[in-house]
Amino acid sequence: MFISWKSLVLIAFGLMTTQYTIINLLAPPEHCLCPAHSKLDFEEQLTNPRQTHVLILTSTRCGSSFLGQLLNQHPDVFYLFEPLYHIQDSLTGNMNFIREVIAGASRDLLWSLFQCDLHALERYLRPPPSNHMVNSLFFWGSSRALCRTPVCKPTNPDKWAEGQCGQCSPINLTRAGEFCSTRSHVAYKTVRIVVVDDLRPLLEDPRLNIKVIQLVRDPRGILNSRIDIFSGWYKAWHTWKTTGQRPESLDIHPPQFNSTCEELYGSVTTALSKPEWLRDRYMLLRYEDLARFPHQKTKEIYDFVGLNMTSSVEKWISDHTGSSTDSKNKPSTKQDSAAIASSWRRKLPIDLVKQAQKECHHYMRLLGYRQVQTQEDLLNMNISLVEDTFLEPYL
Ligand SMILES: *[C@@H]1O[C@H](CO)[C@@H](O)[C@H](O)[C@H]1NC(C)=O
Ligand SMILES: *[C@@H]1O[C@H](CO)[C@@H](O)[C@H](O)[C@H]1NC(C)=O
Ligand SMILES: *[C@@H]1O[C@H](CO)[C@@H](O)[C@H](O)[C@H]1NC(C)=O
Ligand SMILES: *[C@@H]1O[C@H](CO)[C@@H](O)[C@H](O)[C@H]1NC(C)=O
Repeated sequence: MFISWKSLVLIAFGLMTTQYTIINLLAPPEHCLCPAHSKLDFEEQLTNPRQTHVLILTSTRCGSSFLGQLLNQHPDVFYLFEPLYHIQDSLTGNMNFIREVIAGASRDLLWSLFQCDLHALERYLRPPPSNHMVNSLFFWGSSRALCRTPVCKPTNPDKWAEGQCGQCSPINLTRAGEFCSTRSHVAYKTVRIVVVDDLRPLLEDPRLNIKVIQLVRDPRGILNSRIDIFSGWYKAWHTWKTTGQRPESLDIHPPQFNSTCEELYGSVTTALSKPEWLRDRYMLLRYEDLARFPHQKTKEIYDFVGLNMTSSVEKWISDHTGSSTDSKNKPSTKQDSAAIASSWRRKLPIDLVKQAQKECHHYMRLLGYRQVQTQEDLLNMNISLVEDTFLEPYL
């Protein structure tokens, strides 16, 4: 094999920069879990009325935006959509898939963000902000806290709508952090960490008070949604879905579809083994249950994290799910969000469904998703593919 000196220099240089980046990422930031942290701070944090730190843990296309909004709607909650996006965004090339690196950097960032130190985000933003003023964050419009007073004063509050944060640019991260400190709950959602084991150091840290909500979904629904949204990644599946013809190879890069199921399966299995470090800190939630019983499930989520239900949250749920609090009142409209959750059944060919079932066999059995073998059963909505498994928070 012939390798030119130029390639060798390039390879060596590549290794050096990779190492440098890893060291940089793994190096403890100024405000980390290091012993140098002053004892006074530590005791202060332990005796102060504690904030609750809520983390929605899931994979892409599992319905976490909706779940995030259920927390975002509560005025006592400081919520950010996917802050870890900026870590992945700042890593380049093959670094993207070094899971441990992402997990380590993610833990550091979450630790700071849960302490309301939003400045910690800055090292992942390009171009780097000056004076803590940030022009935009990933899906910042999904965060009420960033787009309203006191963090932002929209120049035209009458015309301003949820989801629009443009008028608030640039955002003062110092002020956002100060506002965060005044909330009883700080909530983040992420699809960048899927496995709860990766968070263990945070869950064991006495300065944090984390509640994890692990959101899972029927893999056939995940797949259907990903085929539409990530049609480049899921090219072969996309061809299969649209033509009905199975392509020769289903390789998707990265990673295999079944790795999503494997990761979620692994994480749920860890939780079900009830390790001490998860006691009182873990709730398992199926997206389909949230869609079918949004009021009841939201109540359970709020109970779990220690929030009181408000009438404005009740109203938000009704407006966004077509459901009513009173099940005797118009039961037919109750089906709207549930219908959306099962709409994949009308969109996927049975062969593709069977392939997904094969790849996610263990996961489906564990979480009570029924397999289907014929096109007829697939399309018969009288047959529920979700078992009425009762999943309770680990107490
Ligand atoms: C950002 O907010 C902080 C705290 O409210 C304030 O001290 C600082 O002057 C603000 N920065 C800018 C550039 O407005
Ligand atoms: C929640 O509701 C209970 C019972 O109504 C009340 O005692 C408690 O103070 C409320 N908590 C908050 C944070 O509003
Ligand atoms: C996931 O896909 C890989 C590659 O096709 C395969 O080797 C592995 O057995 C699959 N896992 C499951 C659970 O189907
Ligand atoms: C589904 O149930 C309804 C009401 O019981 C019935 O009228 C309908 O024929 C059923 N559909 C199928 C495909 O079995």
